[in-house]
Amino acid sequence: MIKYFLSITLLLCLFVSCKQIDKSSVKGLITEHAMVVSARAEASEIGSAILKKGGNAFDAMCATQLALAVAYPFAGNIGGGGFMVYRKANGDIGSIDFREKAPLAATKNMYLDELGEVIPNKSILGAMAVGVPGTIAGVFEVHKKLGSLPIEDILEPVINLAYKGVTVTKKQEQKIKKYQPLFLEANKQPIILDTLWKTNDVIKYPELAKTLERILKHGRDEFYKGETAKILAKFIQDNGGIITEEDLAKYKAKWRTPITFTYDDLKIISMAPPASGGICLAQIMTMLQPFHLDEYGHNSLKTIQAITEAERRAYADRSFYLGDSDFVEIPIETLIKDDYLSGRMIDFSFEKATLSSDVSHGNIKIIESDETTHYSIVDQFGNAIAATTTLNGAYGSKLYCSELGFFLNNEMDDFSSKPGEPNMFGLIGAEANSIQPEKRMLSSMTPTIVEKNDKLYMTLGTPGGSTIITSVLQTILNVHEFGMTMQEAVDAPRFHHQWLPDEIRMEPNAFDKKLVKQLEILGYSINEKDSPVIGKVDGILVLDDNSYEGGADYRGDDTAVGF
Ligand code: GLY
Repeated sequence: MIKYFLSITLLLCLFVSCKQIDKSSVKGLITEHAMVVSARAEASEIGSAILKKGGNAFDAMCATQLALAVAYPFAGNIGGGGFMVYRKANGDIGSIDFREKAPLAATKNMYLDELGEVIPNKSILGAMAVGVPGTIAGVFEVHKKLGSLPIEDILEPVINLAYKGVTVTKKQEQKIKKYQPLFLEANKQPIILDTLWKTNDVIKYPELAKTLERILKHGRDEFYKGETAKILAKFIQDNGGIITEEDLAKYKAKWRTPITFTYDDLKIISMAPPASGGICLAQIMTMLQPFHLDEYGHNSLKTIQAITEAERRAYADRSFYLGDSDFVEIPIETLIKDDYLSGRMIDFSFEKATLSSDVSHGNIKIIESDETTHYSIVDQFGNAIAATTTLNGAYGSKLYCSELGFFLNNEMDDFSSKPGEPNMFGLIGAEANSIQPEKRMLSSMTPTIVEKNDKLYMTLGTPGGSTIITSVLQTILNVHEFGMTMQEAVDAPRFHHQWLPDEIRMEPNAFDKKLVKQLEILGYSINEKDSPVIGKVDGILVLDDNSYEGGADYRGDDTAVGF
């Protein structure tokens, strides 16, 4: 195992423009056969061991997903949900949606008071914020359809990890401390993370191990119809929530057709609604296609302007049109069509910023967290997956079921509680993303696979709430337009625009002061305060000799493991 620590690129980028760096010197882990890149070394190691044992990328996906629930309770989960996009060695593509759903008793105005105002925190903290979890359904569905090893081989190392325990990292120590006041607020009883855990302490999760043992014994239905379901529904209701055993029993993961589009000689394969990632990425990249970003240069004035303006327009459409396609009609074809998108950029000029108040959703006939997590896997057979999974906020709703050993999501906040009102990521939603029983809330997750010349080229994704889409975008462009290695592409400073608020968020001290000034002169409002980190991208790039390069983001404890 090789762990990729803080790269030279980052240190240099704090002081100089990244373009000046000798790029050939910064590479992530290179392997010949297979690789797993995830938010924690323990999860990547378990995934990689599954591959080494002869399992495929789908077996490794199941193991990595569950190992993250143990090793990375910040976002890894069995109390949340997610999405996975895959490309098999034979070129077949597909995707699965194991996104949470609104409970049957959910209502459109459940987070509003008598005056129609949003009740602070109700969709964020505690049992009312919880959506019906989809992770176990997703894992078992993937395993049933595409896995090759017996489920015991996948679950046993994860159960062992939960019993053996996970070593606390410095970053984890800081995060646990930061969220402890909210753990106290959300939970009636003390929870395991109330302890003042220090770096190098080992946290054991025996209750989670026992839950996973029951799931191993009885299968997927243990979580949705068995003893675990009963305990979970009662726990949520005892804490004031509305999820019932019926909600759990009715949950199903769904296979969906991915969004595909081309950019130069690349074919991009990404997630369809209820994830907004695929459509927004397609919109932004199609709007960028006529611009010569490679000539403008990485993070140059013109590149930032072009990307910002495309993002502004795509996020305006996102807010209006996107939601759960099982409930609302989304004009997907039109939204990602060239002529519609060239029309969207018609008023753009390098001379002056467009105002978001002048941009609305496009005229066609007919709102999330940096606490998600992503993992990318390629196997020795040539299969690839990109999976993004979340509890939504850090440690989700902060509600921890001690008897079962896991946190519950606060994904209900990804619905628009009140059209026009921003959610915890400042995203504005509309009717398309309003709450309905059994509906899935709109997501920004963007697990993405890229082909070049009909061959696998890249698999990537990231956490980051509303910034997910723009972080995935910039990483692809960094490799394709600016010739970076996978690790450099991941490390490079990132910026983000989401229509509203009308500002470019930039990672602090990562961009040249003169450049920032020039953008301000052109009318852009710059925010370098609120996003110390934009995304934590984990990706894998296929190199010319068919070996793999991992990009594990230094912004977290992310680690590439392979052979
Ligand atoms: N909860 C973050 C997302 O789904 O985008």
